[in-house]
Formats: sequence, structure tokens, C-alpha cells
Amino acid sequence: MRVLVFGMGAIGSVFAARLSKRHEVVGICRGEHYEEIKRSGLKLRGGTEGTFSIRVYRSLKELDEKTFDLVLIATKSYDLKQALKAIKRDITFSYLMTVQNGLGLIDILEEVIGRSRVIYGITYNAAVLVRPGVVDHVFLGETVIKSLVDDPFDEYLVKELKSVGLPARKSDNILKDIWLKGTVNCVINPLTAILREKNGIIREKWDLLSDVVSGVVTECLEAAKIDGVDLGSPQELLDLIKDVSLRTSENRSSMLQDILKGRRTEIEFLNCYVASRLESIGKRAPYNRALCALIRSMEGLS
Ligand code: PAF
Repeated sequence: MRVLVFGMGAIGSVFAARLSKRHEVVGICRGEHYEEIKRSGLKLRGGTEGTFSIRVYRSLKELDEKTFDLVLIATKSYDLKQALKAIKRDITFSYLMTVQNGLGLIDILEEVIGRSRVIYGITYNAAVLVRPGVVDHVFLGETVIKSLVDDPFDEYLVKELKSVGLPARKSDNILKDIWLKGTVNCVINPLTAILREKNGIIREKWDLLSDVVSGVVTECLEAAKIDGVDLGSPQELLDLIKDVSLRTSENRSSMLQDILKGRRTEIEFLNCYVASRLESIGKRAPYNRALCALIRSMEGLS
């Protein structure tokens, strides 16, 4: 396949490196990361090891060849709309897959490019951009994918991801999987960003944090119901969060990485989204609203 990875941050770089073992991969990235990959290749360590020569460009307009079998979007959730508009305008593709954090992204996909040829993906991989050109693949996690309109291409992609060493499976309820991962992110990401600690802190301080964690989880469960999604019992979700915090204990969550770099975070697509959904039907969401306000206040202060 000819694959375009749009957004070569930490996670995008992991997918680009792995997929380049069997496919022709081209990446879009900017700044020093772009310069470094162009100069000395993309270096991965940890769950993925090696130096990968990926052809990179700073924008779609610079591409020599503009037709792809697969476009993989790994930008921040707040850049999804712009990315989709640019992709629609500047290139042609057979399929498009997303691997991003965030809730409510299906609405954006639907609004800009529709559902057909779209594979929704969520990933439990954890990675950090250590310095330009170098990514630490801290945890080799599972990627769960599903075509938004039934299409066997998702099964083919599962096979391809597995064959390059990325654990993957086809979802039998993608909306539920999106809410499950969203709930994990609504707990781990803002708390680690506020505490300025790696993910393992959630498990280490479980008893101290339990009221906040349970409050966020209960509200996520309620908000998911608005989409007709039953996330199961609060205990199942708490176990999932504990498990992700343990398995990614050495990772700095993406929100902590953003805060440390003085960048915008994905809070609008996580806790703020959950709070707004509940408030839109007249319910209160004090835990998610508080985390939304705290992270908004921290953005830009490094
Ligand atoms: O956003 C993140 O950092 C990741 O989704 C996860 C899985 C919480 C690991 O840090």
C-alpha cells in the first residue's frame, strides 16, 4: 500500500515506522522533527526499535505524488477538521483511518468527508517524542478499528497492523470502544497533567484519588448513555483505568506532554466534551467540568 501518515507526532511516528516495514510510507510533519527525519531518518526505541527512512513533507501541497491507498490521521483531535479539509482538497485516497484521542470525532468526520471509506481507530499505544527525530515507544498497546460503513478493508488492515507487529483487532462496537478509551483518557490525562507525574501515579495513589476517579467515571457512563452506549459497570471501567495506568506506568500522558511544552491540550474533546454533553440535557457534571476548567487554566502556562 501507499500510506500517508498525516501528523507524525509520537503515535503517528510509531505507526509510520512499523508500517514502513511492509508498505511505502510518506509522512507530513513540521519543524525540527521534519528536518531531523529528513537528515538522519526516524529513530524509534522501546516497543519499536530502529531507524526508519520515511519520506517526509511539510504540507500536502509539497507532495510529488498525491494518490494514496491509505491516509492515517494521527494529529491532535483539535486539528482533525482542518486536516480533513486539506486532505479532501489536496489529495486522493482509497481509505482513511484515524488514530486519535478524543470524543465527538465521528461527528467531525461525518461533517467533512462522510462515513464511507473511513476506518475509525483507537489505540492504547503510548509514546513520547523525546527530541526531534527520536520517539520512545513506551508501551506496545492494542489498536481497535472498525469501518464506519461495513467494508472488509478493516479486516485487511487488522492483518496488516498485526503483520508489522502492532497488536490489533476489529471492534464489534466502535462507539463503545471510543467511549471506553475516552473515559480512560478523561481520568489519566488531566490527573497526570495536574500532578505532573507519569501514568503510574494513578495506580500508586488510587485510594487518595478514588473519589475524583469515580466521579469522572460515573459522569462518563451517564454521557455515553446519551449516545445509546452502555459502558458496563463502574467497576469494569475502574479496572480498565487501573490496568492502563499500570501497563503505561512509565509514560507521560499526551496531556502532560502538552502542558510541559506549553501547548494546547485535547481537553475540549475529553472532559469538557463530557461535561457539555451532560449539561446539554440538563444534568450536572461537576467532576469533568472541574477538570476541564483546571486544564484550560493551565494551558499555555509551562
Ligand atoms: O493520551 C495518552 O497518553 C494515551 O492515550 C494513554 C493510553 C493514556 C497512554 O498515556
